[in-house]
Amino acid sequence: MEASSSSSSSSSSYIAPLFLFLLQLLFFAAPMECAETHYHNFIVQETAVNRLCKSHNIITVNGQFPGPTISARNGDSLVIRVTNRARYNITIHWHGIRQMRTPWADGPEYVTQCPIRPGGTYTYRFTLENQEGTLWWHAHSKWLRATVYGALIIFPKSSSSFPFSTPKIDVPIILGEWWNRNIVDVMRQAMFTGAAPNVSDAYTINGQPGDLYPCSSQSTVRIPVSQGDTVLLRVINAALNQQLFFSVANHKLTVVGADAAYNKPFATNVIMVGPGQTTNVLLTADQPPARYYIAARAYASAQNAPFDNTTTTAVLEYRTSAGGQSTSSRPVMPQLPAFNDTATVTAFTGKFRGLPSVAKVPTKVDENLFFTVGLGFVNCTPGPRCQGPNNTRFAASMNNVSMVLPTKTSLLQAYYQNTPGVFTTDFPPVPPVVFDYTGNVSRGLWQPKFGTKLYKLKFGSNVQIVLQDTAIFSTEDHPIHLHGYHFFVVGQGFGNFNAKSDPSKFNLVDPPVRNTIDVPVGGWAVIRFVADNPGVWLFHCHIDAHLAWGLGMSFIVENGNGKSQSVEPPPADLPQC
Ligand code: C2O
Repeated sequence: MEASSSSSSSSSSYIAPLFLFLLQLLFFAAPMECAETHYHNFIVQETAVNRLCKSHNIITVNGQFPGPTISARNGDSLVIRVTNRARYNITIHWHGIRQMRTPWADGPEYVTQCPIRPGGTYTYRFTLENQEGTLWWHAHSKWLRATVYGALIIFPKSSSSFPFSTPKIDVPIILGEWWNRNIVDVMRQAMFTGAAPNVSDAYTINGQPGDLYPCSSQSTVRIPVSQGDTVLLRVINAALNQQLFFSVANHKLTVVGADAAYNKPFATNVIMVGPGQTTNVLLTADQPPARYYIAARAYASAQNAPFDNTTTTAVLEYRTSAGGQSTSSRPVMPQLPAFNDTATVTAFTGKFRGLPSVAKVPTKVDENLFFTVGLGFVNCTPGPRCQGPNNTRFAASMNNVSMVLPTKTSLLQAYYQNTPGVFTTDFPPVPPVVFDYTGNVSRGLWQPKFGTKLYKLKFGSNVQIVLQDTAIFSTEDHPIHLHGYHFFVVGQGFGNFNAKSDPSKFNLVDPPVRNTIDVPVGGWAVIRFVADNPGVWLFHCHIDAHLAWGLGMSFIVENGNGKSQSVEPPPADLPQC
């Protein structure tokens, strides 16, 4: 505050102390809002784990699988010291956290930081601003997030509450994907051969496959409930490469939130969660005391592509009136949709309406972007490194640019320090060639160009992005995630986006807010956001195989002129390459 300006008038010397007194009165009268700082130590290490009758070493945090749950309130700060005692480089990403002005703590390897080397440490520091609900954290280096993940739960401020009555039971349900092999070997094999990676051996709920798999019934996750209990299930899809259907036998699910934003509650029997997404559902234990399966299995939208078609289960277990558990009976199995039931997915996603929030959806657009999302191929000479379909290697792209990341620095460091030659800012705002995206795409358009191309956004600009799936190789549902932001989903549809007729159907009244959008198979989705968080932000498909093939790009959001509109300086312990 400027103090010098008050000296000119005699009355101001009298007003200033009075003003200060009133300010103090106001401060002490206000309800105490104690924002806390939470400290965590994450030790990344190798841990022997037994699943599906086999034991092998996986990478964990603190020896736990899934890793520790982080709980905090909106407004709190987190300080997480990560020490790498494993043999691989690692970074940790706080999926969905906005990281206002702190992109250094976002975590994607070679985008906002160089990796933490074996033996190294890095402390992530950030504040939770205006977000509530379920998020999660995961490794953002190679495919290590297959086992390095955990829940990140943001409760309302102590002066506030959920927009629904507080449930008796509140439990994270993290859906994962399990391989009987070292995941880095699975990745290296795919990257070497150019072919699709091996599919997983199991899905998991909170790290356990459940009793439909061999050697798994003893360790099946059980959620004990009493008749009449209300239960909040915080469903997180941490699977590496697979969208999942999720259901609880005989119980209606009321969807109340997704990706750390509340929505208008709606009822459903089944939900679909894309990799990266979270969905909060309420249920009431109003069925006869018995055992009911909580189950998840694949929603696989690509045609003729192999996928893991197994089913993971946990058990919702009623206490009997005598006080014991109903353990004897075989659990009731829910009806899960067929693996390719896109109609059920469309009906489900179509029910999402946002809660009116302080942030309004932008009605005018400054940046109108159109990105194709899809697979691609690079022709190669037959041999061990050319195992993709018809003498090719798999690739993937947005607007025909297959993303290549630097290896000697991160994009954010290069941008902040003005290092030349690391990236260019000519990522195409629209496809370089217009074609029938979801039709019969000619082979000449299947080969992308590799590059490190970013797109610059002015601080405060209103951004719209049309995400258009392509039929290159096969149409497929892609879960596209934007770092550092959440966005409004204003429209979705099938076929090619029509810029003349489709905008009139946009929901600009109560669109849902998300950080990861499942672009419908053979269709499109339109998102909007205000570029109010400066930094370098990765925008990518959350199927790790597609990310490794290049399905992503990064935005630079420039600093604004106001206070609190600039990227903070990098922390002193930021890892160097
Ligand atoms: Cu949850 Cu870039 O990722």
